Amino acid sequence: METQRFIVDNNVDSEKSYSQAVDLLNNGELVAFPTETVYGLGAVATNESAVKKIYAAKGRPSDNPLIVHIGTFAELEKYVDYISDKARKCMEAFWPGPLTIIFKVKPNILAPSVTAGLDTVGIRMPNHPVAIRLLQKLGKPVAAPSANRSGKPSPTEGIHVEQDLAGEIPMILDGGATGIGVESTVIDLTLETPVILRPGAITKEMFEKVIGPVEQPTHIEQKAGAPRAPGMKYTHYAPNAPVYLIEQNEQQVSRAIKELQQQGHKVALLGPQRFAHLVSNWFFTLGDSKEEMAANLFHALRACDSTAADIVLATVTSTDGVGAAIMNRLEKSAGGKWYSKDYQKQ
Ligand code: TXA
Ligand code: MG
Repeated sequence: METQRFIVDNNVDSEKSYSQAVDLLNNGELVAFPTETVYGLGAVATNESAVKKIYAAKGRPSDNPLIVHIGTFAELEKYVDYISDKARKCMEAFWPGPLTIIFKVKPNILAPSVTAGLDTVGIRMPNHPVAIRLLQKLGKPVAAPSANRSGKPSPTEGIHVEQDLAGEIPMILDGGATGIGVESTVIDLTLETPVILRPGAITKEMFEKVIGPVEQPTHIEQKAGAPRAPGMKYTHYAPNAPVYLIEQNEQQVSRAIKELQQQGHKVALLGPQRFAHLVSNWFFTLGDSKEEMAANLFHALRACDSTAADIVLATVTSTDGVGAAIMNRLEKSAGGKWYSKDYQKQ
């Protein structure tokens, strides 16, 4: 299958591209599109054979459910049983936006593969002009995971989707780089105390101002317990070379690079811009603020695969605000390994 990538932005007359995307979706095909977080790989969420194509194209395990994207508030009650007060407050505060809410699902409406056998469904209303225009033009719910091959970093540019899925899908709507860069926050509001299953740009601090206390188990804590977000148990965001985490301390990083190079390694460093002068073999900037880090992270992890690096050092940040989301993704990409604890002791 040939994959076509169409640029859709305000300076281009894109109407034809949207019509073609809508036709493809209505015919049970897949279309990749940008959201404000990462690119999604969409299929009509009520069409089982279309949804199955998502799992096949990504190589995604079939027990990992998909997020359903909607373009209007009115659609929500078609798919969910009950909208709690807390859910309403979160929707009012954060939709459209980078937030997925887990609801009890109404039976027999969405394609069974969307929910992977659970009695709940994750729903989100994205806040990206291309996603919203596509959803509203289509007028149907769209199941869409991140548009990467399973295990790879999520795509934050149209070209990333092409790298992973060329030949597997007919169409990519390319709206340029996504703004936020990490996937939506997933919160389970079906529980007595709400639990953040995946941290994102809507932070614990932001929720607590709107609905009171919420729990945010760390990646390690989630691994130890029964996984509530099925996606938690799979490898994620991994470049080909192993990733080790390291404190954002210039002396420590500089020493680590020297040690590794003396052992014959080629090192890719992911760090703040002010580390650019360090003598790693490759350097990919994470920028300086947490927002920049979130926006640059997946691009930087992907960029490692276009180098001959055989080890990646990634500097960490604190877990306040969107830092929790950054650290969650970094810990997964490193498989929890730290340079000081896990490499130097080998
Ligand atoms: O920002 C995003 O959320 C992007 C864009 C495209 O919208 N989508 C995305 O989808 O990241 P995906 O499939 O890569 O991640 C969905 C996560 C997985 O960890 C999955 O296990 C969890 O949400 N999830 C989905 N439905 C769930 C459910 N009913 N209960 C618990 N977790 C659920
Ligand atoms: Mg994903």
